[in-house]
Amino acid sequence: MTLEDFKLRTPEQYKEAQQQAIKNPDLFWAEIANTFEWKTPFEKALQYNWNDTPSTEWFAGGKLNITENCLDRHVATQPDKLALIWEPNEPHDTPVKLTYKELLEAVCTFANGLKNQGVSKGDRVCIYLPMVPELTIAVLACARIGAIHSVVFAGFSASALAARIQDSGCSILITADGAFRGNKTVPLKDIADDALKTCESVRKSIVLQRTFEPISWNNKLDVWWHDFVDGLSSSCTPEIMDAEDVLFILYTSGSTGKPKGMVHTCGGYMVYTAYSFMNVFQYEQDDVYWCTADIGWITGHSYMVYGPLAVGATSVHFEGVPSYPKWNRFWEICEKHKVNQFYTAPTAIRALAKHPSSHVTNHDLSALKVLGSVGEPINEEAWNWYDTHVGKNQVPIVDTWWQTETGGILISSLAGVTPQKPTYATLPLPGIQAALVDDKGNPLTDKEAEGILTINFPWPSIARTIWGDHKRYQEVYFSAFPGRYFPGDGALRDADGNYRITGRVDDVVIVSGHNLGTAPIENSINEHPEVVESAVVGYPHDIKGNALMAYVILYNTTDDSERLIKEIREQISNTIGPIAKPDRVLIVSGLPKTRSGKIMRRILRKLASNEMDQLGDISTLLNPEIVEEIKKELS
Ligand code: WTA
Repeated sequence: MTLEDFKLRTPEQYKEAQQQAIKNPDLFWAEIANTFEWKTPFEKALQYNWNDTPSTEWFAGGKLNITENCLDRHVATQPDKLALIWEPNEPHDTPVKLTYKELLEAVCTFANGLKNQGVSKGDRVCIYLPMVPELTIAVLACARIGAIHSVVFAGFSASALAARIQDSGCSILITADGAFRGNKTVPLKDIADDALKTCESVRKSIVLQRTFEPISWNNKLDVWWHDFVDGLSSSCTPEIMDAEDVLFILYTSGSTGKPKGMVHTCGGYMVYTAYSFMNVFQYEQDDVYWCTADIGWITGHSYMVYGPLAVGATSVHFEGVPSYPKWNRFWEICEKHKVNQFYTAPTAIRALAKHPSSHVTNHDLSALKVLGSVGEPINEEAWNWYDTHVGKNQVPIVDTWWQTETGGILISSLAGVTPQKPTYATLPLPGIQAALVDDKGNPLTDKEAEGILTINFPWPSIARTIWGDHKRYQEVYFSAFPGRYFPGDGALRDADGNYRITGRVDDVVIVSGHNLGTAPIENSINEHPEVVESAVVGYPHDIKGNALMAYVILYNTTDDSERLIKEIREQISNTIGPIAKPDRVLIVSGLPKTRSGKIMRRILRKLASNEMDQLGDISTLLNPEIVEEIKKELS
């Protein structure tokens, strides 16, 4: 049997698969897993315990290397098939096309370089690169030799990068002189240099030449990528890994404190990303698939690198931004490479919808077979625009709900196979036991219900732990509702069992598709010497989905609030990254608090959202007068 035999092509096949997966999960996933190449077969598919200290193991004892499945396996049958079509920032620069054979050789060459550096199985390697082919190559080279990659999005600041390097003790950093993003360049090497001042664990920094701008150089630490790989062999025996060995760490924001290094392992992650990719996008062997994400996020890991490559797909990767040089760039690329599946985020769709539709209609998009959405709830207006202008009302839309923690898509329609419904992610994929509970954990058993989403049974690509902090993993995901996985999202369900995600139920705000914990932003603001205390909340924004508003209390009143606000925004940009800068900063004399001193964020959210009539009873607050004061400020 091949993976293709598990492709679900009708609603009945979907239903049948879901029933089988629930009735006998071991058998269901074992059969799918057995279509991959194993060095040593696994004996039992699943072992888990979600009641005490949560543990989940899939295919443990089975030995494999994920890159053999993603590369060598396809090189054996179709070496000249394109794995990657890389579209550079400048539309007139030539795309880089890599066949499976060429990609394998590049991966092996770089892997040999890492080996020469003494990198071996289990070592952590931090990758801080722009969206260039070398990012994919570096990721896969780590996997080839069993090193654990930790990709950090190239929009993060020096201190955010440093915190991630320190947390996982990376010994190698892979970066570039700079990055092109539209008409801007980002000085990545400068940022990395800054970060490395506090990262003693890093003993080598490999620097890719991309922008050719001048950089500072440390002979002891730095080596150019091209020198690093010079003269190396292009074959490299893959490290044999247990299915449960760590493949990568990827950091995601939590509602409190430092980012969580989510740990994904080799076997289950490979099986689930491949299976879900093939089924959600209904990928056919000659299709060209394009996901516009960055490999710095989970969408890039699962649906630009591992899932598509495991299936032998051809993917477009794009270095630039949708607005450069003009707002037609996405559609120009779709036309140029005859893209069949296009996968992007609601934020991008809303931004594109603000511009004349001629940007879309001037391009031949007739190759499109599937449109996808990911990262945040898609509002009806954006859904309709996508459907009408891009899909010409003929192309199925998959609204895919999942998380860094889930590794792969958990709720989505299967393109053109199961029904779609605007703003609904729709049905759980086979093997996903989604449910709703009320805030006390009571199951909501009515067909139609609204509550908190939980997943009640393991699936192969669930993150196994938080790097170095299993206790936090248990607390965040398994303590709210014992025995169930708690994703942190609210949802409603219609009479047909379709789920609609309503948004986060914790203090994470999704701004332009980026998860931002409010606590770390508050910590950053509070570091400003003039600030006593602050509170950050999200409020609706018509392009970004949500924007941030910071309420700030000062030690002394200031007559130069403009300077102060600028400093605060810069401070956030430096400690977290530009994406975390609040749209609005309001200087206030106090924050609404309960009598026990807890900040009433709900009220601050309502105020920021201009829902002044929905504040509820404020008389029980410690300081109701402050609400009136803020209201006045905002009106
Ligand atoms: C949100 C991104 C509604 C959700 C893959 C989740 C969504 C968080 C959707 C995870 C969707 C993601 N509809 N909300 N289709 N997809 N989300 O870790 O709140 O960056 O918990 O993973 O994004 O974001 P993350």
